Amino acid sequence: MPTNRELYFQLLSDDSKYLNKNIIISLLADASKFDDRMVLYANFDREVVDVERLYTNLELIKKGMPYQYVLGYSYFLGNKIIVNKDVLIPRQETEQLTVDTIVYLKKVFKSDEYPVIADVCTGSGAIACAIEKEIPNAKIYATDISSYALKVAKKNTKNVEMLCGNLLQPLIDNRIKLDVLICNPPYIENINNIDKQVWKYEPHLALVAVPGTKCYEEIFKNADQVMKEHYLMAFEIEEDMEEALIKLMNKYLAGCTYRFHKDIYNKTRFLYIIK
Ligand SMILES: C[S@@+](CC[C@H](N)C(=O)[O-])C[C@H]1O[C@@H](n2cnc3c(N)ncnc32)[C@H](O)[C@@H]1O
Repeated sequence: MPTNRELYFQLLSDDSKYLNKNIIISLLADASKFDDRMVLYANFDREVVDVERLYTNLELIKKGMPYQYVLGYSYFLGNKIIVNKDVLIPRQETEQLTVDTIVYLKKVFKSDEYPVIADVCTGSGAIACAIEKEIPNAKIYATDISSYALKVAKKNTKNVEMLCGNLLQPLIDNRIKLDVLICNPPYIENINNIDKQVWKYEPHLALVAVPGTKCYEEIFKNADQVMKEHYLMAFEIEEDMEEALIKLMNKYLAGCTYRFHKDIYNKTRFLYIIK
């Protein structure tokens, strides 16, 4: 059997456009069932445990399937998250949205308080999973219109309550009042802007909204039915949406203050609304 080091360098010289260092390391760690890459590095000169699995996975990746779907999991803020074709692969920018929201929660709520939080459009449940770990006292709901997505989210969380339905509707129906709402809804209006590999493999329901501001408008319109008197609503947004969202906030959310934040590439990708 080849060692991890031997296979690493062999795969590095492969000219597939779908392979890179990060994916090769993920494949090697997976083939030896190492959850932590540091363990792989510590065992770099040991034989790969399951070479057959690695080669089977490699073939699928070389056909263009995202490696997270091939492996069946991804990592989000250090948490191992199960993914399949029913859920979006959690993205790095969503980690920033989640960390900012967790920082807010830790600042505003004492450790003996019980904030009520909803991860609306939860998909894999990656956001809810991260919040659950950091804010153990919280009562957390996760909502999605896809019951298939909620099955995945359920596996990725412990005590999060799953509610199926359109945006805020399941929260309204259950008379739930929130301190914090966090949401990464579908927001891509023009499907020509979607990477071909993403369009082929990821759920279209998680990507497209026409107009792009559709979900935000519905949430703003009904916010008073689910939010407490004082609250935070945290959203991931498409760049260039700022102006349209300001108009909608002026229309539906009088008395709130808001802030747009940029991502690490200096693009405006997050909106925080506070009341
Ligand atoms: C962009 S994905 C976000 C998934 C996950 N929160 C994340 O950040 O990785 C959007 C999710 O919204 C769900 N969705 C789409 N339209 C919806 C609607 N009208 N009401 C509730 N959920 C919806 C999709 O099924 C998908 O899981």
